[in-house]
Amino acid sequence: MKYRHAFHAGNFADVHKHVTLLALLRALARKDTGLLLLDTHAGRGLYDLADADARKGNEAAGGIARLEAAQSSAAQPVTAELTDYLASIQQIRSERRDRRCYPGSPLLGLHALRPQDRAVFIETQPTEHAALRAAVGKRATVECADGFQRLANWLPPRERRALVLIDPPYEATAADFREVERALGETLRRLANAVVMIWYPIKHGRDTDHWLERLAQHWPKAAGGALVPQLVSELWVHPRDNRAGLNGSGLLIANPPYLIAEQMRIWLQELHRTLDPNRAGGWLVRESLAVTSAS
Ligand SMILES: C[S@@+](CC[C@H](N)C(=O)[O-])C[C@H]1O[C@@H](n2cnc3c(N)ncnc32)[C@H](O)[C@@H]1O
Repeated sequence: MKYRHAFHAGNFADVHKHVTLLALLRALARKDTGLLLLDTHAGRGLYDLADADARKGNEAAGGIARLEAAQSSAAQPVTAELTDYLASIQQIRSERRDRRCYPGSPLLGLHALRPQDRAVFIETQPTEHAALRAAVGKRATVECADGFQRLANWLPPRERRALVLIDPPYEATAADFREVERALGETLRRLANAVVMIWYPIKHGRDTDHWLERLAQHWPKAAGGALVPQLVSELWVHPRDNRAGLNGSGLLIANPPYLIAEQMRIWLQELHRTLDPNRAGGWLVRESLAVTSAS
């Protein structure tokens, strides 16, 4: 496997994903009962934005750096979710005494968890896994394994509540898309109320739309015919049909928490305004009342 997330850490897609992850965890924390955060493709947890890998593509410049620059300008982010995200990054940096670090999904997730919550992080690459283990210490279970295969082992959790993040690299694109479909079905079969957040790349808008349509048809069967509310959140910073690389970032969320879509429309609009100053792209939030029953 060639994929190294350090090249992409803090880019616009990371920001889109991490703001949403934090908002979902905050919403789930409205209930006192504990939950399991299961991150099947966790990465190394903490990235150094000044290291050679991160500087190579300088992707953070179009993501977290742009959002932070806005913070000290007249266009200061005002939406609660964006200010919470920026404040969380600052807190993690000061805890770590490292002003250049950027927290990936595991560290940002841990930051939002309460004492009654638990986290399991899975990462397949031994070097990334070792870095992740060092970054989280004893605060979570960390496995060096295939997240698609290990997912079933952790579900259903004893808490009967879970947020499952599925964020593969899509290096073997078709295979990863197929695995994601299977993992989504498996998760919902094991825990019907699981909040599942799947990240997907938007490289060509039409392909993405076909995949989402196909997923909507197959998903209920895979999930055992259950009715599952879903939410799609997309942010693109280049035209959606531009074939040159990653145009946008997509999130498919099963069982979204109550009222999250309304808030998302506000923060995503602001995020898009900040990360796409030339207005080459766009954003969308789409709710489906439910995926129709297949049984
Ligand atoms: C997009 S990155 C994850 C980024 C992380 N979720 C974040 O937001 O900070 C994908 C990660 O999945 C790892 N990976 C690839 N295939 C995997 C598999 N089958 N199971 C678990 N991890 C895998 C890669 O090594 C890489 O670190």
